[in-house]
Amino acid sequence: MTPRVIMSGIRPTGTGAAHLGHWEGALKSWVKLQDMGQCYYSVVDWHALTTEYQDVKNIQGNVRQVLLDILSVGIDPEKSVVYLQSAIKEISELFLLLGMMTPLGWLERVPTFKEQQAQLADRDINTFGFLGYPLLQTVDIIIMKADTVPVGEDQVFHLELAREIVRRFNGLYGDCFPEPLPFLTPIPKLPGVAGRKMSKSYGNAIFLSDAADVVAAKVATMITDPQRMRKSDPGNPDVCNVFDFHKLYSPPELVAEVNRRCRTADIGCVECKQLMAKHLNAFLDPRIRVH
Ligand code: TRP
Ligand code: SF4
Repeated sequence: MTPRVIMSGIRPTGTGAAHLGHWEGALKSWVKLQDMGQCYYSVVDWHALTTEYQDVKNIQGNVRQVLLDILSVGIDPEKSVVYLQSAIKEISELFLLLGMMTPLGWLERVPTFKEQQAQLADRDINTFGFLGYPLLQTVDIIIMKADTVPVGEDQVFHLELAREIVRRFNGLYGDCFPEPLPFLTPIPKLPGVAGRKMSKSYGNAIFLSDAADVVAAKVATMITDPQRMRKSDPGNPDVCNVFDFHKLYSPPELVAEVNRRCRTADIGCVECKQLMAKHLNAFLDPRIRVH
């Protein structure tokens, strides 16, 4: 299907700053889709409240940071509509109306409901608002009559729920909303600094706005081939996080060179990381850095 109306959102949570995982998982597609249809990109501050209602002081600053981040990667307000969710009061109105016909069981079954509650055990998110998170997301999408939603893999279930709700609505009241499909970016392997999935909550993310020396310092702590103890041991780039980053951000000649010199113990991890950080920083350079 060709995308005609595209909608996606980003939450201004944590420090607000978008990281490389956001870029690889979704923002890259946001940029590309700008030339394929009408795009609506939203900073979803009401979604931030579902998990951060107890501590709201940072949300306004986070909105500004994440907005800078999306503009800096090339979201062009001349092409795309970029907006704050809470500025569109009709979103809350449609949320109320859809709430009337959304079975509780559909929301309770969404895997992220239980998962996030377990993960964010320090907060009380056993709330009506948090249960309604995927319904609010549905409204974000369908209020623009979007057919295409560029998101990461973790959002597929939310999109399935959105389609179920649309079918129910259209069945009850007549065809009104298109059924939105996810537009998935094939995610290259991009582990966080310590090898886990890159995530703000794991504290291992490289932010698009990190200063060059901060990026270099984070790269320096990355785990490499665990079998390689000394510089004189040959390494295996296939099991090395740093090499995964090289493949994404370094020129092909360097990737080939690192591949060869690592296996023959001709390059040490310190130097290899410095080279990678240099190219990663060159990639991040046009972005706005504020920290
Ligand atoms: N749930 C999405 C996330 O965690 C954010 C989001 C909110 C969203 N509303 C949306 C994504 C609408 C796409 C479309 O990343
Ligand atoms: Fe990884 Fe580079 Fe070290 Fe090889 S030399 S193990 S690719 S960091």
